[in-house]
Amino acid sequence: MYDLILRNCRLYPETKLVDIAIQAGKIAVVQAAITESAGREIDCDGQLVTPPFVESHIHLDSVLAAGKPHFNISGTLFEGIQIWGERKKSLTREDVQQRALAALKLMAGNGVLYVRTHVDVTEPNLIALDALLELRDQVKDWMTLQVVAFPQDGIYSRPENDSLLEEALKRGADAVGGIPHYELTREDGVRSIHRIFDLAEQYDRLIDVHCDEVDDDQSRFVEVIIAEAIKRGGGGRVSASHTTAFGSYNDAYAYKLMGFLKRTNINFIANPLINITLQGRMDTYPKRRGLTRIKELWQNGVNVSLGQDDIHDPWYIFGTGSMIGVAHMAVHAAQMTGLKEIDACFDMVTSHAARSLNISDYGIKVGNPANLAVLGVVDPFNAIRYQVTPRYVISQGKVIAETQPTQTNITV
Ligand code: FE2
Repeated sequence: MYDLILRNCRLYPETKLVDIAIQAGKIAVVQAAITESAGREIDCDGQLVTPPFVESHIHLDSVLAAGKPHFNISGTLFEGIQIWGERKKSLTREDVQQRALAALKLMAGNGVLYVRTHVDVTEPNLIALDALLELRDQVKDWMTLQVVAFPQDGIYSRPENDSLLEEALKRGADAVGGIPHYELTREDGVRSIHRIFDLAEQYDRLIDVHCDEVDDDQSRFVEVIIAEAIKRGGGGRVSASHTTAFGSYNDAYAYKLMGFLKRTNINFIANPLINITLQGRMDTYPKRRGLTRIKELWQNGVNVSLGQDDIHDPWYIFGTGSMIGVAHMAVHAAQMTGLKEIDACFDMVTSHAARSLNISDYGIKVGNPANLAVLGVVDPFNAIRYQVTPRYVISQGKVIAETQPTQTNITV
């Protein structure tokens, strides 16, 4: 007698139907036609059962804060930073936790059970950091949260920011962040990356740097990250987020970097909803898409994942918590409409994102945590085509969200 059995599950990329038995929060059996019974059984009716979606890049400290103190009129990254600079002066722990928890629940309903959040650690009291570290513990029974210490205003733009970043690691942040293209000089940007790698080594943390999030084709800090990862090793623990300038580099330079990337295994994290919205704002026409080279990086064997970045905040007014919605935008904006490319975009919000986050027990395998989403479609293509919400979301063996399919009655 198991706790839960999912019957007639279609796994991806395999196509044979299996049953999945769950016991004590773990996947106990995966095989065709399990004969035992369970306290609860769900017939998945041949539809896709996937490991959960993984949000590899979001800012939970600013979610659901759009319009306060005012909306972003120019639509630019820099106006967003300026509005957030005003808003963060009035942060409280309760304010951050309430909004972040609401966003995590939105995400859980959409089958997201792993989340990497950046948190601004240039606010002198580290209120948002403490709030999210506490929340990480509060939600751990149904959501795995990673916290990146993110120096939003730069490590060297103010004297205290360097020590605030280090203090964030001492308090328990999972990863070191950075923003080299927003440091005051190119030299400060390079120095900031060396500092990030030093801190990661000293405190044994992951690295995830906001890197080259600008349309400037001379913003070339990703080469510094690649170089450090080659020289120091451990590239799998390093992520370069956004890298939108990579979409503006000339091909000769871009393909030189692609060559260097074969010598390390760093991860790239793109945020297509946000990148296509924030970037290209200063162009006339032709207007750039402002995305990193998602397709070409993937074709070159680089691990690429996708994030939402923002949900209804000073940088982006929309956002639903759906990673399928993010994959849908990637398919369009990166022109990945071939069937294998569409599957790759699905991978970028599931298994590839799990790799970016260094999650070792991810996937539908015996012994892994029973984290699953039952989708009401047969394959990733249809999941993205119809932008489905999961029918069931199972976290550590418990059904934590159920969504009834919508039904439209056509009367003609
Ligand atoms: Fe970001």
